[in-house]
Amino acid sequence: MILHDEPSGLFTLHTRATAYQMKVDEHRVLLHTYYGPKIPDQDLSGLLLRTDRGFSPNPYEAGADRTYSLDVMPQEYSTCGVGDFRLPSIELELPSGSHTCDLRYCGCEMRPGKYALEGLPAFFGGGAETLILRLEDAAAQVEVLLYFSVFEELDLITRAVEVRNVGEREVRLCRCASLCLDLPRGDLDFITFNGRHLMERRLERAPLRSGVQSVGSTRGASSHQHNPFVMLCDRSAGEDAGLCYGAMLLYSGNFEAAAERSQFETTRLVMGIHPYHFCWTLAPGGTFTAPEAALVCSPDGFGQMSRQFHRAIRDHLIRDPYRGRRRPVLINNWEATYFDFTANKLCEIAEEAAALGIELFVMDDGWFGRRDDDSSGLGDWFVNREKLPGGLEALVPRINRLGMSFGIWVEPEMVSEDSQLYRDHPDWALQVPGRAPARGRGQLVLDFSRQDVRDHIYGQLRTVLSSAPITYVKWDMNRSLCDVWSAALPARRQGEVYHRFVLGVYDLLERLRRDYPELLLEGCCGGGGRFDGGMLYYTPQIWCSDNSDAIDRLSIQYGTSFCYPPEAMGAHVSAVPNQQNGRVTPIQTRGIAAMSGAFGYELDLSKCTSEEKACIRRQVRSYQEHYDLIHSGDYYRLAAPGEAGPFAAWAHVSPDRERALVSLVTGGTGAAQPFRRLRLKGLDPAGRYRVNGGETLWSGGLLMSEGYPLPVPEGDYQALQLYFQAADSQ
Ligand code: GLA
Repeated sequence: MILHDEPSGLFTLHTRATAYQMKVDEHRVLLHTYYGPKIPDQDLSGLLLRTDRGFSPNPYEAGADRTYSLDVMPQEYSTCGVGDFRLPSIELELPSGSHTCDLRYCGCEMRPGKYALEGLPAFFGGGAETLILRLEDAAAQVEVLLYFSVFEELDLITRAVEVRNVGEREVRLCRCASLCLDLPRGDLDFITFNGRHLMERRLERAPLRSGVQSVGSTRGASSHQHNPFVMLCDRSAGEDAGLCYGAMLLYSGNFEAAAERSQFETTRLVMGIHPYHFCWTLAPGGTFTAPEAALVCSPDGFGQMSRQFHRAIRDHLIRDPYRGRRRPVLINNWEATYFDFTANKLCEIAEEAAALGIELFVMDDGWFGRRDDDSSGLGDWFVNREKLPGGLEALVPRINRLGMSFGIWVEPEMVSEDSQLYRDHPDWALQVPGRAPARGRGQLVLDFSRQDVRDHIYGQLRTVLSSAPITYVKWDMNRSLCDVWSAALPARRQGEVYHRFVLGVYDLLERLRRDYPELLLEGCCGGGGRFDGGMLYYTPQIWCSDNSDAIDRLSIQYGTSFCYPPEAMGAHVSAVPNQQNGRVTPIQTRGIAAMSGAFGYELDLSKCTSEEKACIRRQVRSYQEHYDLIHSGDYYRLAAPGEAGPFAAWAHVSPDRERALVSLVTGGTGAAQPFRRLRLKGLDPAGRYRVNGGETLWSGGLLMSEGYPLPVPEGDYQALQLYFQAADSQ
């Protein structure tokens, strides 16, 4: 619910458990007065104290009042160069050369429903309400529209920003954050999700110290190194209790999430497109739209926050037809064959897979152009007929006859120098005049800011997709951007290329969705280098990491689960010794780790023993049986990998609390291990549950307070799956 009290200038956004409040003050500055647990409907600006602060300037119109300073008051959207020295949200370059921006409130609008953003990903759906606040910089002749939508039941508040040049001269926008959040305390922890290729999104938590702490990406993609999802929380907050805030940016390119503890121990979080090499020219009448950000505040710990994000992403970000639609169990040939395959080899793997109940065969890298290794062929999206005689027209029916659907791998944003495309259009690659471009994985990046480049690639993809019944596409991106310069833009607009590149990727993904609405898209960027809410709007699942080791995956999937629902994470069972780290884990363990994601296999089944195949058949069946729990149940983190002793555990619980699938994976073994119990969460305390179909009835309350006794593990990396079912539900 959104309330506006005109006389007091108060705007309050109410969600189920939280409230968010802003107030227009006597100088038309839009203050942020509150965000936290639900409050009675009252003006909280009384909580803001004012006093004369040295070296904090006073706006001219405050006259002799030295207690009024933008530098110390909480701002809804911070300005720059006019007296607030904390993190700015916006920075303009005016025709005069000045880099200032001063915003004052000048009007509002309320609408039912959720706003949409043209060309950008955004949450959608009925039931939301929207508030638009208009701010102006009268001297700069610039208007800033702040959009807020409230999804009440989800405790979700989305935000977006539009900047308009309402003057007659060109203005340049050098910074435009999507979100600014001022909180009145400095004793908070900042949680970020960091890593590297093969080791993404590992949770790091640290108390805020004075000054700015930030994570971000200037790699052109949201990156393996940091994620555009961050949290602030009470020092004492944990999984099940304590106040926390999650902030997510729906964007797949350069971003920055910066938290600043100010001199007076308040906190400001600013999140948006990274200002590195960002400069957008706004012609008179022109508009710039910043990507959407979304906030969830949970007074009851991290678990509740995550479940709210999961619900929001499932129901209001993943689009039809894959919202709620069953996704196939897949087998991918990458780790089985790499580039070295023939049509017969693929069919051999597919045949084995079909017999085990696997539903989709994915042909990975190496099927196109002259692509026998990673040094050539990108950009030539036509079938390599030496490898696949008869093309897809011959191969796909062979796979289909096995009862499996068929998917392909593509990497549309890239080009190899050794390709027909590059020989024909060398200027289509991003590179700076006079400088040899850096290669990444031996390849260059296409200038996706250009419509002609995108059209050409799309034309090729269409021909492939129309040549056979292809139901799935894995969209990959295997290097970071550098040497970013577009031959199609003048010098003064080169600061637009990074963002235009991302808009170009979104444009092509949207065209694919429009023309092939049934196609299941899986995002990928060397695994999880572009795992963000922006991509999820187009690709309902994303390959979570190139690391397929079950044990490393526990912490990767754990970190990812703080914002993103489990079924968004592509997770496969691969061969042992694992090809990324050499570890040997039982197939049962690999299955259980992969099963709480978008499940699949990535190994040469013809090399598996008959026991392994029998195990795979059981895994596929079990995944299908529990599919609705995994894909739409509530996710509970029960034990964090590496923290809670020698095991990690998590649960998928049905919304009616009648069923729960609990998974547990142990670490390295040890002699004489203590007795352990696993405390469950999310069950009905009054309910009674059977475990794995057994006779004993366990009290839900007891399972949550005392825990379920675990067998003493024997051997390294054991795994266990426990299915709890309420006694009276069948
Ligand atoms: C990336 C992906 C892998 C695989 C290879 C193919 O690394 O993450 O899954 O598709 O590319 O080159």
